[in-house]
Amino acid sequence: MIETERTGTGKNVYPEYYEAAAAIAQPRHFPSPVNDPKWIKSAIDWFVESRTAMEVGPGRGEFAETVVRKRGELKKYYIVDMSGGMLNVVRERIRNVETEVEIIFICADVDYDPLFEIPDRSVDRITMINAFQDINPLTALRVFRRILAPTGLFRANVLSRELREKYCLEDDFFDRKTGCFYLTHHPSIENKRGINPIGSITNKDGEKIPFYRILKSYYRSELDKIFNECGFEIISETPVILPKNVWMNSVAAQGKEHTNTKRLELIDKFGGYPSSVDIIAKPLTNLKIKGGL
Ligand SMILES: C[S@@+](CC[C@H](N)C(=O)[O-])C[C@H]1O[C@@H](n2cnc3c(N)ncnc32)[C@H](O)[C@@H]1O
Repeated sequence: MIETERTGTGKNVYPEYYEAAAAIAQPRHFPSPVNDPKWIKSAIDWFVESRTAMEVGPGRGEFAETVVRKRGELKKYYIVDMSGGMLNVVRERIRNVETEVEIIFICADVDYDPLFEIPDRSVDRITMINAFQDINPLTALRVFRRILAPTGLFRANVLSRELREKYCLEDDFFDRKTGCFYLTHHPSIENKRGINPIGSITNKDGEKIPFYRILKSYYRSELDKIFNECGFEIISETPVILPKNVWMNSVAAQGKEHTNTKRLELIDKFGGYPSSVDIIAKPLTNLKIKGGL
């Protein structure tokens, strides 16, 4: 059984964690499908067939750069992140890309922020790539529901609790009771800067280890409930298999996971790392959202 203590804010990760990640001069990329050329192509085509779109949690802007280069039908592109440092990395990355897309950066935490600068029903596509595990979906999805056009779509790749339970039993800090994985290292170690933990976890020897991020995975049935409660219906789900080279070059493959035999066997079996499920949801027409928007 896993025993944890939280500091009380209820966040899965503090912005300072990502400020530290943004400050790394030569970062390894996140274990994300944005680094898979095949996945990103189809995700971009889907995104730029809209006129107004929003990305939440752009990280270092791999997706954003491809969006502004491709453009498609896109006229207005909101880029939202709680980390000003991450937004600056994206700004810098696309600074010299010539584009007619209007880009609006919003530094906001979607766990709390109502995003009032974005009008009701004005956005055709919203995407979150490798970021859904970090947020409180019951708050954020209600805001996304407000700003999404009636014909709009929301897309996110979500950590699959079924997959994690089936294949990641060796993770010391994965709690099967909650679907939470506790990350006990943080990027600023590389920068020699301290950041505050969001809680501590007691290991097998009774030692309290600080953790800096909770990665929340979900059962499909949990997702249906959460999405319905916030005014959405899930209309498709596709497993995301991260190609082996993408996984091995990512920050997640550092340390013990890099040499973990069970994980490598899993990668060979699937031809990649089965990381998440790509969910697309549409707004429910008969809006019956518990607690309102
Ligand atoms: C793991 S990174 C993924 C970045 C990128 N999309 C990728 O796939 O490589 C998660 C991103 O989401 C942002 N983020 C996390 N929680 C957030 C929140 N509550 N509100 C806004 N942005 C958030 C982080 O700052 C970071 O840029």
